[in-house]
Amino acid sequence: MLGALVLIGGVVLGLTSVADAALQRPLLTPASPKLDGLLQLEHPLYANYSVRVTESQFCDGVTRVYTGYIDLEAKHLFFYFFESRRDPASDDVVLWLNGGPGGSSAHGLFMENGPCRMAGPNGTERFEHSWNDFLNTLYLDQPVGTGFSYADHGEYVSSTYEASKDIAAFVAIFFHHFDNLKGRKFHMTGESYAGRMIPVFAAAVHDQNARLVKAGLAPINLDSIVLGNGCTNFMIMTLSYYDIQCEYQQDYGIPPIQTAQECSRIKQLVPRCERRLKTSCIDTYDKTDCLASLSFCADAFKDFWAKDDGYNPHDRTLPCKPYMGMDECYPIIKDISAYLNNPTTQATLGVDLAHSTFVAHNGSVQAMWEANADRVSFRAEDAIGALLDRGVRALVYVGVNDFVCNWARLSSIGTERMTLGVEWAQQEAYRRAPVRDWRVGDVVAGKVRSGGGMTFATVLDAGHLTPHDQPVRVLEVVRKWLLNGDM
Ligand SMILES: *[C@@H]1O[C@H](CO)[C@@H](O)[C@H](O)[C@H]1NC(C)=O
Ligand SMILES: *[C@@H]1O[C@H](CO)[C@@H](O)[C@H](O)[C@H]1NC(C)=O
Ligand SMILES: *[C@@H]1O[C@H](CO)[C@@H](O)[C@H](O)[C@H]1NC(C)=O
Repeated sequence: MLGALVLIGGVVLGLTSVADAALQRPLLTPASPKLDGLLQLEHPLYANYSVRVTESQFCDGVTRVYTGYIDLEAKHLFFYFFESRRDPASDDVVLWLNGGPGGSSAHGLFMENGPCRMAGPNGTERFEHSWNDFLNTLYLDQPVGTGFSYADHGEYVSSTYEASKDIAAFVAIFFHHFDNLKGRKFHMTGESYAGRMIPVFAAAVHDQNARLVKAGLAPINLDSIVLGNGCTNFMIMTLSYYDIQCEYQQDYGIPPIQTAQECSRIKQLVPRCERRLKTSCIDTYDKTDCLASLSFCADAFKDFWAKDDGYNPHDRTLPCKPYMGMDECYPIIKDISAYLNNPTTQATLGVDLAHSTFVAHNGSVQAMWEANADRVSFRAEDAIGALLDRGVRALVYVGVNDFVCNWARLSSIGTERMTLGVEWAQQEAYRRAPVRDWRVGDVVAGKVRSGGGMTFATVLDAGHLTPHDQPVRVLEVVRKWLLNGDM
């Protein structure tokens, strides 16, 4: 019943015992009995796992970084862990996930909220507005098959619920291994499709606590979830694609994306799409019918995506090519891929050379999830409600120029509609709460509504990748809300 800690390449991490904890050592060294150079760990819930860690300062040149894998049987999940720039010994821990599914969290790390950003294809430079300014930050490539995470014999997962088991195991083992973090406040955050995954993942982590306590281990101190430009409810989002292309386009000060005739045609498809999704995916679930409904809705709105009106669907104020690969609109993604495919980088990070091909977004992972109708087969906001009822706070923020997981500058559609549909004991406090401006200094940075543990905030002048577009504003949202309880 032993999980061996295997060390590869790089620096061998502190072979200290729990008793040595007070001695000088990196703040996040694993505490494990030493056994002939192999660190043996036992975890009552997860018998067969290992942890492979390499230490470096690769990103901003100063921050201590741990990269590597947590091996869960035949699944190998790759992570980057950065100590806080402020006080790693007491600061909270935040997990960040990108979406897709199949999108590597390297997006978040190297172009949104990490300690460094790409400086061309060959290296990185310090980034001043990183979330590790005051948080210990963890980036995870998931589900397995994404980024550097891999499976030995095709043990992939194709749904949020399936993936949530791996995430709960990962989190339990991570906190067990980096024992200095035990009991530390933990926040689960992510973007886009992760806005759908995070509530379910967080519920799994919360539920697991009873088993951890029963086994004599510290529970995970899950404090909050944060969803950035989340596509939490795809039915609401899909229907909003009518509003946003036919009614609220003027919000963005750019010409209408559709003709009057086209809008009148799409308008009739909205209730049909809604009825079909509701009937076959929500009220009852029949995978074949649900997939057919999804395909009907995709056809109904496909002109929107196919149309090259010269603007970026991830940020309607920016010119870009039509909806192709994201790296067409954000060339920095090509730099991320070049950098992570570089053998020198991989050696620094301790990447397993047998599984070293990095793609920023693995389309075949996404295809597996699509084939399973994961995007509409359950209401992720019910997990938000269940977490709120258990004292886990929720923040939903959205960059207003995003069409994909949208809001609009002047109107409540998409994401905010989803929050108003969350059911929990204190939902009236949220629904009745006034919408007010929030500011960075004297400058209005967006709108906020807050009540009953839930906060919804818009961020002006930002698209789908809000921390990329407005890092200072998002850092302020996170600082105010995570650390000080409200905005
Ligand atoms: C542990 O996992 C490895 C990798 O899948 C497998 O080869 C091995 O048989 C497992 N051992 C046990 C005791 O389950
Ligand atoms: C990156 O490195 C390659 C290989 O050393 C070199 O050819 C290229 O000029 C470098 N690019 C930049 C932008 O520095
Ligand atoms: C992408 O995911 C598939 C499983 O869906 C996997 O077989 C493949 O190896 C992954 N590709 C990369 C480059 O990791």
